[in-house]
Amino acid sequence: MDGHYLNNAATTWPKPECVAEAMRSFLVRGGANSSRGSSSERDMKTMNLVLDCRIKLAEFFGGYDSDPMLVTFTANITESINVVLRGFLKPGMRAITTSMEHNAVMRPLRALEGKGVGVKVVMCDSEGRLDPSELERELSGTKYDLMVMSHASNVCGTVQPLEDAAELCAKFGVPLVADTAQTAGVLPLSASGLGLSALCFTGHKGLMGPQGTGGIIWEPEFASRVEPLITGGTGSYSHLEYQPEDMPDKFESGTPNLPGIAGLSAALDWVKSTGLARIAGRERELGERLLSGLLRMKGVTLSGKRNMNGRMSVFPLNADWADNGTLADRLSRSGYETRPGLHCAPSAHRTLGTFPQGALRVSPGYFTTESEIDGFLEELGSL
Ligand SMILES: Cc1ncc(COP(=O)(O)O)c(C=O)c1O
Repeated sequence: MDGHYLNNAATTWPKPECVAEAMRSFLVRGGANSSRGSSSERDMKTMNLVLDCRIKLAEFFGGYDSDPMLVTFTANITESINVVLRGFLKPGMRAITTSMEHNAVMRPLRALEGKGVGVKVVMCDSEGRLDPSELERELSGTKYDLMVMSHASNVCGTVQPLEDAAELCAKFGVPLVADTAQTAGVLPLSASGLGLSALCFTGHKGLMGPQGTGGIIWEPEFASRVEPLITGGTGSYSHLEYQPEDMPDKFESGTPNLPGIAGLSAALDWVKSTGLARIAGRERELGERLLSGLLRMKGVTLSGKRNMNGRMSVFPLNADWADNGTLADRLSRSGYETRPGLHCAPSAHRTLGTFPQGALRVSPGYFTTESEIDGFLEELGSL
């Protein structure tokens, strides 16, 4: 398909060729269910495919003891976050988060608030960054049962001081849950290195996998304190009418997205062989080119950071000459694909001062070319 895809913060595109090939191969040549057959070659192949992907994820995300059993597959990070928050937080508990969160965090928290969970939102600065000393002040004054925060903003790309937050959470004994939607596959991450209670990921962004994949990397003691959101058949303990406590079955009822797992597994191989440093370096180069062009453009207001330090290549802008919805529409007519509006993150836009109008979000990816960046800048300037 023609077009200049600059909406990689929503989902990365194109995917590496090997992803579609692996999915096709599963559907055409494999196709058995997982743990729900016999010991036929087909059944064993599927079981190995799933285990293999768990092993890769546990290693990639620095899982505790690299244990593949502490990896849960979900359909996306929204499900991952819901599994963790709704399974752990009970009425009377208190949760803390930041003002830069996506609704994947905010909506479950607000729903839980309606059921008696206390929710505190720490305000970030005008570039969307959490100030660790603000967090420390809050944690030292009130006892919280859980903290949840994104590693980077899907609106302005600001990377949060996750290491500082992890240290503070460890100091005050608060389990920390990370939303890595915008950084997984680009920045290095280690669940055990950071001491995270749960690292939530989505497969279809920086990990380059297909939509419909995601998961959780658990700290084992925390996982034992979380109730499963969904219960049902696991292909194991079929004599029991109660959900098994064993991992990974506890949080994985129903047939998983097996073609998706095949694609994600191939995508992880691609990310590993390409290397995070190369991926991040490429995204930074493109970001620098786009940012310097936008900063030179008269009548364009950029929100968030105005340099490339501590950020992802995600740029929210408004222009004097048209609202961001009109800009996106006009740009798409000449093939430039972006995303206007509020990006499922009203609180983040409030923090950046772009609520309620939102912004035009431009997010190049690993496969974007320099000429697409230049073409976009020229097109935006000529609208
Ligand atoms: C920071 C952040 N969290 C959560 C999500 C939700 O991701 P998904 O739709 O894959 O569940 C997104 C998607 O844009 C995101 O950027």
